[in-house]
Order: sequence, then structure tokens, then C-alpha cells
Amino acid sequence: MADKLDWNNIGFQYRDTNGYMKYTWTLETGWDKGTFETDPYLKVHMCSTGLNYGQQCFEGLKAFKDKEGRVRIFRPQENAARMKRSGPIAHMPEVPEDIFLDGCRRTCEKNIEFVPPAETDGAFYLRPLLFGSGPMIGMNAAPEFTFVVFGMPVGNYYKGGIKPATAYVMESIDRAAPKGTGSAKLGGNYAPTFGPMLKKMAEGYTLTMHLDAKNRTHVDEFSTSNFVALTPPDENGVRTFVTPNSESILRSVTRLTLEDICTKFGWKVEERPVAFSEIIEGKFNEVAACGTAVVLTPVKSITRGDQVINIGDQEKIGEGFQRLYDYYRGIQKGEIKDEFGWMWPA
Ligand code: COI
Repeated sequence: MADKLDWNNIGFQYRDTNGYMKYTWTLETGWDKGTFETDPYLKVHMCSTGLNYGQQCFEGLKAFKDKEGRVRIFRPQENAARMKRSGPIAHMPEVPEDIFLDGCRRTCEKNIEFVPPAETDGAFYLRPLLFGSGPMIGMNAAPEFTFVVFGMPVGNYYKGGIKPATAYVMESIDRAAPKGTGSAKLGGNYAPTFGPMLKKMAEGYTLTMHLDAKNRTHVDEFSTSNFVALTPPDENGVRTFVTPNSESILRSVTRLTLEDICTKFGWKVEERPVAFSEIIEGKFNEVAACGTAVVLTPVKSITRGDQVINIGDQEKIGEGFQRLYDYYRGIQKGEIKDEFGWMWPA
């Protein structure tokens, strides 16, 4: 299967591989040791809480091959920690970090030939998924939970890669309510945006963006990823990286990584409420979407109703994000020394 792949044109879509890791939890036994499975169809009870009540959460992270053919995963401990937070929000058992890492490692090991070669821009995307798989008709936790880690080779999420994209501010739907579940990686935060998002994409927009649901005055995030922005450099060449600290958004591992790289560059980092008016006033000369799947996608315009706000270079990624992107990808490819200890195993 893997030998038929056109590594430079794999896009972001489901592909069959050799198999995946599967773990089962029950109240009596806790988590089992896990098995490697080859059938992508799971046997799940029709009355499972995962199917009936959306009792589930997931993660997304990537593994990379370096020039020596070594495969390493990018910051899996951060994703394990996030799943530990998401699971209990949907009243599910925690997946311990050692099981999470074991699932990622063994799924990669059994699918080595599906990890794109270093010279391509691809990655092996890992999708850890936790859900209630046992029957429960009332509103209660399932008697059985399933944790799977599957994966597939991926390239660019958006067709243009790091070419500037257009964004549209959603008015017909909010992604997450104040005090809601927006900070947890629950499938239920994603599916309701599919319809309105795909409609806007059909009209030519790449990204859809959500404002705070209460006042619609501040930026939350994009439907797929976090919002990040850069100010122009000051007289000392120092930029400020600005990103919302909303309670309703996901704690993107890519965003945290970019923040650390900014600090290394001697740039300032501001995690704070970001007023939409700041975008209108032109405070930022670069805006981007960031996440594991979308990596760093520059945004050249944001449309809200009839108002179109152009931002930065309309043809190519801005200098600031280009520098961050090169450093970030350089570490993942093994071309830049990983002084942060992000690649696992070291
Ligand atoms: C990821 O970046 O891993 C996500 O889960 C986002 C999704 C749009 C694919």
C-alpha cells in the first residue's frame, strides 16, 4: 500500500494502514495492555454512550522521519496531558500517559513504511480516540471505554499549504459557549461547524473564524485551529506574538511551541483577550491559523459581513511567520538541534 503513495501529493485524508492499537477499560479491570488490530471497523454496542451521547474525545499529533530514517513523535506528552483534561470533561476515565505514549509508539512502529520520507513535507498523523463503547441508555458513563490510536500519512490540510488563505467570521453559529466545552477536544465541538464551514468553503473561503459567543467582540479561534498574530518589528527588531487567552479555545500544542520559539528569538508573547477591532485597526501585520493539522497557515484577509480586512503580504507568508515556520519544521525534520526536547524519543 505504502509503495503506491505519491508522497508529495497525499493531502489530508483517511488512508488504510497496517493497523492500530486498541485498549479497553472496564470498572473492574481498568485499562488493559492493548492489542494491535488490523480491521478498521470496530465492534461497538449500538447503545454505547459514544454513539448516543457523544461521550468521546480525540487528539491529533504527528510523527516524522529524519534523514537517517529515524521516526520520532512531536511532543506526545502535551497531547497526552490534553486528553487527560478532555476525558473527564465528558465524564470518561483518564488515559494514563504511559498508555497514550505506548499507543502512539506501537502504532508508528507497525506502520513505519507509512511515515513519509524526510525529504517530503509530509508526516504520519496520529489520531488517539477515546469513547464510551459499552451500552448505557440513561445519562451515565458507559460500562466500557475504548481507546484507539490509529494513524495515516498526511500532507497539507489546506491545498495551498503555507500560501496566504482567506478567512470568514461566522455569525450564524458559535463554536463554544462561555463556560462550555470549547477548551476540550470533544468531537461535539467540531461536527456542528461542518455545515456552515463547508458552505463558506464552497464560496471560496479557506477558513472560518469564531468570535466570543457572549459579545462577539473578541477573537476565539478558527473552526480547525488557533488564531495567532504578529505585530511589525519594533526599532530593535522585536515582534510581539499575540494570541487569545479565551477559556473557550483549545490549548494548541503548535501554538505553545511557537510561543517558545518566539521567546528564543527574543520576541514578546502576549496571551490575552484579542479584540476584533485590533484587526480592523491594523495592529497586526501578520495573522495565521495554527494547529497540528493546519501547521501554520497565513491569513491574508478576514471577512466579516460586508467588511473585508486585508492583512500583510497577499502573495506569500510574511517574514515573521516564515521564520517561525522554518524553525518549527526544522526541529521536526531533525535539521535544527532540538534543544527543547520536543521530539520523542530523544
Ligand atoms: C488537529 O490539528 O490535529 C485537529 O484535530 C484539527 C482537525 C481540524 C483535523
